[in-house]
Amino acid sequence: MPRVKSKRRQQIEHLVLVPLDWVEERSGWVGGVKYFLFRKVPHDSNWFHTLGSATLTAFIVQAVTGVILAFYYKPSPDEAYGSIQNITNDLTLGWLVRGMHRWGASVFIILLFLHMGRVFLFGAYKYPREMNWLIGVLLLVLAMLEGFTGYLLPWDQTAYWATVVGINLNATAPAAAPFLFDFLRGGAEIGENTLSIFYSMHMLLIPGGLITLIGLHLYLVVHLGITSPPWSKDAPGLDREEVVTARRGLVEPRPRGNGSEPVR
Ligand code: HEM
Repeated sequence: MPRVKSKRRQQIEHLVLVPLDWVEERSGWVGGVKYFLFRKVPHDSNWFHTLGSATLTAFIVQAVTGVILAFYYKPSPDEAYGSIQNITNDLTLGWLVRGMHRWGASVFIILLFLHMGRVFLFGAYKYPREMNWLIGVLLLVLAMLEGFTGYLLPWDQTAYWATVVGINLNATAPAAAPFLFDFLRGGAEIGENTLSIFYSMHMLLIPGGLITLIGLHLYLVVHLGITSPPWSKDAPGLDREEVVTARRGLVEPRPRGNGSEPVR
Protein backbone atom coordinates (compact mmCIF):
# COMPACT_ATOMS: atom_id res chain seq x y z
CA MET A 1 0.00 0.00 0.00
CA PRO A 2 1.49 3.41 -0.93
CA ARG A 3 2.59 5.49 2.07
CA VAL A 4 0.38 8.47 2.71
CA LYS A 5 2.43 11.65 3.09
CA SER A 6 1.49 14.04 5.84
CA LYS A 7 0.09 17.40 4.83
CA ARG A 8 3.16 19.15 6.21
CA ARG A 9 5.51 16.97 4.19
CA GLN A 10 3.52 17.61 1.04
CA GLN A 11 3.77 21.35 1.68
CA ILE A 12 7.55 21.15 2.14
CA GLU A 13 7.99 19.05 -1.01
CA HIS A 14 5.86 21.51 -2.92
CA LEU A 15 7.98 24.42 -1.68
CA VAL A 16 11.22 22.71 -2.78
CA LEU A 17 10.08 21.05 -5.99
CA VAL A 18 8.14 23.88 -7.61
CA PRO A 19 11.16 26.24 -7.91
CA LEU A 20 13.40 23.34 -8.99
CA ASP A 21 10.93 22.27 -11.68
CA TRP A 22 10.68 25.89 -12.80
CA VAL A 23 14.46 26.11 -13.27
CA GLU A 24 14.69 22.64 -14.86
CA GLU A 25 11.99 23.36 -17.42
CA ARG A 26 13.68 26.56 -18.51
CA SER A 27 17.37 25.53 -18.41
CA GLY A 28 17.88 21.78 -17.89
CA TRP A 29 20.38 22.68 -15.14
CA VAL A 30 18.84 20.45 -12.46
CA GLY A 31 19.26 17.40 -14.71
CA GLY A 32 22.86 18.51 -15.44
CA VAL A 33 23.72 18.81 -11.74
CA LYS A 34 22.06 15.43 -11.03
CA TYR A 35 24.11 13.83 -13.81
CA PHE A 36 27.31 15.37 -12.39
CA LEU A 37 26.61 14.24 -8.81
CA PHE A 38 25.28 10.75 -9.55
CA ARG A 39 27.46 9.75 -12.52
CA LYS A 40 29.21 6.38 -12.33
CA VAL A 41 32.81 6.22 -11.09
CA PRO A 42 35.09 3.13 -11.02
CA HIS A 43 34.11 0.71 -8.25
CA ASP A 44 37.71 0.69 -7.00
CA SER A 45 38.22 4.47 -6.76
CA ASN A 46 39.70 5.43 -3.41
CA TRP A 47 40.82 8.32 -1.20
CA PHE A 48 43.56 9.33 -3.65
CA HIS A 49 40.80 10.24 -6.10
CA THR A 50 39.57 12.93 -3.71
CA LEU A 51 42.73 15.05 -4.16
CA GLY A 52 41.31 16.81 -7.24
CA SER A 53 38.17 17.82 -5.35
CA ALA A 54 40.32 18.87 -2.38
CA THR A 55 42.31 21.13 -4.74
CA LEU A 56 39.05 22.54 -6.07
CA THR A 57 37.85 23.22 -2.52
CA ALA A 58 41.12 25.01 -1.70
CA PHE A 59 40.67 27.12 -4.84
CA ILE A 60 37.11 28.06 -3.85
CA VAL A 61 38.29 29.06 -0.35
CA GLN A 62 40.96 31.28 -1.98
CA ALA A 63 38.38 32.86 -4.28
CA VAL A 64 35.90 33.61 -1.47
CA THR A 65 38.47 34.95 1.03
CA GLY A 66 40.17 36.90 -1.79
CA VAL A 67 36.95 38.70 -2.69
CA ILE A 68 36.42 39.63 0.99
CA LEU A 69 40.00 40.93 1.27
CA ALA A 70 39.53 42.97 -1.93
CA PHE A 71 36.73 44.94 -0.22
CA TYR A 72 39.30 46.44 2.17
CA TYR A 73 42.70 46.20 0.46
CA LYS A 74 44.10 49.38 -1.13
CA PRO A 75 46.54 48.72 -3.98
CA SER A 76 48.80 51.76 -3.70
CA PRO A 77 52.31 51.94 -2.18
CA ASP A 78 51.18 54.52 0.40
CA GLU A 79 48.14 52.60 1.61
CA ALA A 80 48.72 48.89 0.88
CA TYR A 81 50.65 48.05 4.06
CA GLY A 82 48.27 50.07 6.25
CA SER A 83 45.18 48.47 4.71
CA ILE A 84 46.60 45.01 5.44
CA GLN A 85 47.25 46.05 9.06
CA ASN A 86 43.70 47.35 9.24
CA ILE A 87 42.29 44.05 7.93
CA THR A 88 44.39 42.03 10.39
CA ASN A 89 43.97 44.11 13.54
CA ASP A 90 40.76 46.12 13.28
CA LEU A 91 38.17 44.35 11.13
CA THR A 92 35.88 41.70 12.65
CA LEU A 93 37.43 38.31 11.86
CA GLY A 94 39.77 40.08 9.42
CA TRP A 95 42.72 38.14 10.88
CA LEU A 96 40.89 34.90 10.13
CA VAL A 97 40.03 35.77 6.53
CA ARG A 98 43.56 37.02 5.84
CA GLY A 99 45.09 33.98 7.55
CA MET A 100 42.89 31.61 5.54
CA HIS A 101 43.92 33.34 2.31
CA ARG A 102 47.63 33.43 3.17
CA TRP A 103 47.94 29.85 4.44
CA GLY A 104 45.32 28.63 1.98
CA ALA A 105 47.64 29.65 -0.87
CA SER A 106 50.22 27.11 0.33
CA VAL A 107 47.54 24.48 0.93
CA PHE A 108 46.28 25.02 -2.64
CA ILE A 109 49.76 24.55 -4.16
CA ILE A 110 50.53 21.50 -1.99
CA LEU A 111 47.21 19.84 -2.91
CA LEU A 112 47.81 20.68 -6.56
CA PHE A 113 51.14 18.83 -6.49
CA LEU A 114 49.65 15.88 -4.58
CA HIS A 115 46.81 15.65 -7.12
CA MET A 116 49.28 15.84 -10.00
CA GLY A 117 51.43 13.17 -8.33
CA ARG A 118 48.40 10.88 -7.97
CA VAL A 119 47.48 11.39 -11.64
CA PHE A 120 51.08 10.62 -12.66
CA LEU A 121 51.50 7.54 -10.45
CA PHE A 122 48.12 6.12 -11.49
CA GLY A 123 49.00 6.66 -15.17
CA ALA A 124 45.83 8.75 -15.48
CA TYR A 125 47.54 11.08 -17.97
CA LYS A 126 47.51 8.32 -20.63
CA TYR A 127 45.15 8.07 -23.60
CA PRO A 128 42.51 9.52 -23.78
CA ARG A 129 43.31 11.98 -20.98
CA GLU A 130 46.44 13.65 -22.41
CA MET A 131 44.57 16.88 -23.07
CA ASN A 132 43.40 17.06 -19.47
CA TRP A 133 47.00 16.63 -18.33
CA LEU A 134 48.05 19.53 -20.57
CA ILE A 135 45.26 21.71 -19.17
CA GLY A 136 46.52 20.66 -15.71
CA VAL A 137 50.04 21.86 -16.58
CA LEU A 138 48.62 25.28 -17.53
CA LEU A 139 46.66 25.30 -14.26
CA LEU A 140 49.88 24.62 -12.38
CA VAL A 141 51.69 27.51 -14.10
CA LEU A 142 48.79 29.89 -13.42
CA ALA A 143 48.56 28.77 -9.77
CA MET A 144 52.28 29.52 -9.26
CA LEU A 145 51.86 32.92 -10.94
CA GLU A 146 48.91 33.62 -8.63
CA GLY A 147 51.14 32.92 -5.63
CA PHE A 148 53.96 35.08 -7.03
CA THR A 149 51.74 38.09 -7.76
CA GLY A 150 49.91 37.80 -4.42
CA TYR A 151 53.15 37.79 -2.43
CA LEU A 152 53.89 41.45 -3.27
CA LEU A 153 50.51 42.81 -2.19
CA PRO A 154 51.20 43.26 1.59
CA TRP A 155 53.96 45.67 0.47
CA ASP A 156 56.22 44.92 3.44
CA GLN A 157 59.97 44.29 3.36
CA THR A 158 59.58 40.52 2.78
CA ALA A 159 57.11 41.09 -0.04
CA TYR A 160 59.22 43.78 -1.70
CA TRP A 161 62.53 41.91 -1.66
CA ALA A 162 61.01 38.55 -2.58
CA THR A 163 59.51 40.27 -5.64
CA VAL A 164 62.87 41.87 -6.50
CA VAL A 165 64.38 38.37 -6.50
CA GLY A 166 61.46 36.93 -8.51
CA ILE A 167 61.61 39.65 -11.15
CA ASN A 168 65.41 39.34 -11.42
CA LEU A 169 65.01 35.60 -11.93
CA ASN A 170 62.64 36.32 -14.81
CA ALA A 171 65.32 38.57 -16.24
CA THR A 172 67.48 35.48 -16.79
CA ALA A 173 64.86 33.75 -18.97
CA PRO A 174 65.99 32.89 -22.49
CA ALA A 175 64.72 35.22 -25.25
CA ALA A 176 61.73 36.66 -23.33
CA ALA A 177 63.90 38.10 -20.51
CA PRO A 178 63.95 41.82 -21.47
CA PHE A 179 60.20 41.82 -22.15
CA LEU A 180 59.34 40.00 -18.91
CA PHE A 181 61.66 42.21 -16.88
CA ASP A 182 60.09 45.44 -18.16
CA PHE A 183 56.53 44.16 -18.14
CA LEU A 184 56.62 42.90 -14.54
CA ARG A 185 58.29 46.03 -13.17
CA GLY A 186 56.00 48.32 -15.15
CA GLY A 187 58.76 50.94 -15.27
CA ALA A 188 62.40 51.57 -14.48
CA GLU A 189 62.11 50.21 -10.96
CA ILE A 190 59.73 48.34 -8.68
CA GLY A 191 57.11 50.78 -7.40
CA GLU A 192 53.58 52.02 -7.90
CA ASN A 193 53.15 50.53 -11.38
CA THR A 194 54.53 47.16 -10.33
CA LEU A 195 51.96 46.98 -7.55
CA SER A 196 49.11 47.89 -9.95
CA ILE A 197 50.22 45.29 -12.50
CA PHE A 198 50.60 42.58 -9.87
CA TYR A 199 47.24 43.47 -8.30
CA SER A 200 45.33 43.35 -11.57
CA MET A 201 47.01 40.07 -12.58
CA HIS A 202 46.29 38.60 -9.13
CA MET A 203 42.67 39.80 -9.08
CA LEU A 204 41.51 39.55 -12.68
CA LEU A 205 43.73 37.99 -15.29
CA ILE A 206 45.02 34.89 -13.50
CA PRO A 207 41.79 33.99 -11.63
CA GLY A 208 39.89 34.41 -14.92
CA GLY A 209 42.30 31.98 -16.59
CA LEU A 210 42.13 29.58 -13.64
CA ILE A 211 38.32 29.53 -13.60
CA THR A 212 38.12 28.95 -17.36
CA LEU A 213 40.68 26.15 -17.28
CA ILE A 214 39.14 24.51 -14.19
CA GLY A 215 35.79 24.53 -16.06
CA LEU A 216 37.40 22.79 -19.06
CA HIS A 217 39.28 20.40 -16.76
CA LEU A 218 36.10 19.33 -14.95
CA TYR A 219 34.19 19.05 -18.22
CA LEU A 220 36.80 16.56 -19.46
CA VAL A 221 36.77 14.70 -16.11
CA VAL A 222 33.00 14.18 -16.47
CA HIS A 223 33.20 13.51 -20.21
CA LEU A 224 35.99 10.91 -20.00
CA GLY A 225 35.29 9.51 -16.53
CA ILE A 226 38.04 8.88 -13.98
CA THR A 227 40.56 6.08 -14.08
CA SER A 228 40.95 3.04 -11.84
CA PRO A 229 44.11 2.58 -9.73
CA PRO A 230 47.06 0.88 -11.48
CA TRP A 231 46.54 -2.37 -9.53
CA SER A 232 43.02 -2.73 -10.92
CA LYS A 233 42.22 -4.86 -13.95
CA ASP A 234 40.55 -1.75 -15.38
CA ALA A 235 43.75 0.39 -15.05
CA PRO A 236 44.40 2.86 -17.89
CA GLY A 237 46.28 1.45 -20.85
CA LEU A 238 45.46 -2.21 -20.11
CA ASP A 239 42.32 -2.21 -22.22
CA ARG A 240 44.13 -1.19 -25.41
CA GLU A 241 45.24 -3.73 -27.91
CA GLU A 242 48.77 -2.97 -29.07
CA VAL A 243 48.55 -1.43 -32.50
CA VAL A 244 51.73 -1.70 -34.55
CA THR A 245 51.97 1.21 -36.92
CA ALA A 246 54.66 2.14 -39.45
CA ARG A 247 58.29 1.09 -38.86
CA ARG A 248 59.38 -0.88 -35.79
CA GLY A 249 62.95 0.46 -35.83
CA LEU A 250 66.22 -0.97 -37.06
CA VAL A 251 66.56 -3.82 -34.54
CA GLU A 252 63.69 -6.25 -34.05
CA PRO A 253 63.48 -7.63 -30.50
CA ARG A 254 63.97 -11.43 -30.60
CA PRO A 255 64.66 -14.18 -28.02
CA ARG A 256 68.28 -14.55 -26.82
CA GLY A 257 70.46 -17.53 -27.79
CA ASN A 258 69.29 -19.88 -30.54
CA GLY A 259 65.73 -19.71 -29.38
CA SER A 260 65.62 -23.28 -27.98
CA GLU A 261 66.02 -22.23 -24.29
CA PRO A 262 62.93 -22.11 -22.06
CA VAL A 263 61.41 -18.64 -21.77
CA ARG A 264 62.20 -17.10 -18.36
C1 HEM B 1 43.30 24.07 -9.91
C2 HEM B 1 43.86 22.91 -10.09
C3 HEM B 1 43.14 21.59 -10.31
C4 HEM B 1 41.87 21.22 -9.98
C5 HEM B 1 40.81 22.04 -9.24
C6 HEM B 1 41.69 19.86 -10.44
C7 HEM B 1 40.53 19.10 -10.24
C8 HEM B 1 40.38 17.80 -10.65
C9 HEM B 1 39.29 16.93 -10.28
C10 HEM B 1 38.13 17.31 -9.34
C11 HEM B 1 39.49 15.73 -10.88
C12 HEM B 1 38.62 14.45 -10.77
C13 HEM B 1 38.92 13.70 -9.46
C14 HEM B 1 40.36 13.26 -9.34
O1 HEM B 1 40.86 12.54 -10.22
O2 HEM B 1 41.02 13.69 -8.37
C15 HEM B 1 40.69 15.85 -11.69
C16 HEM B 1 41.21 14.88 -12.51
C17 HEM B 1 42.35 15.01 -13.30
N1 HEM B 1 43.29 16.01 -13.19
FE1 HEM B 1 43.07 17.70 -12.13
N2 HEM B 1 42.84 19.44 -11.08
C18 HEM B 1 43.76 20.47 -11.02
C19 HEM B 1 45.06 20.43 -11.48
C20 HEM B 1 45.61 19.40 -12.22
C21 HEM B 1 47.00 19.31 -12.65
C22 HEM B 1 48.09 20.32 -12.24
C23 HEM B 1 47.12 18.19 -13.41
C24 HEM B 1 48.32 17.63 -14.13
C25 HEM B 1 49.31 18.34 -14.64
C26 HEM B 1 45.81 17.57 -13.48
C27 HEM B 1 45.49 16.46 -14.22
C28 HEM B 1 44.31 15.75 -14.10
C29 HEM B 1 43.98 14.54 -14.86
C30 HEM B 1 44.82 13.91 -15.99
C31 HEM B 1 42.76 14.08 -14.35
C32 HEM B 1 41.99 12.82 -14.77
C33 HEM B 1 42.31 11.78 -13.72
C34 HEM B 1 41.59 10.48 -13.92
O3 HEM B 1 40.92 10.32 -14.92
O4 HEM B 1 41.73 9.62 -13.04
N3 HEM B 1 44.93 18.32 -12.72
N4 HEM B 1 41.23 17.12 -11.52
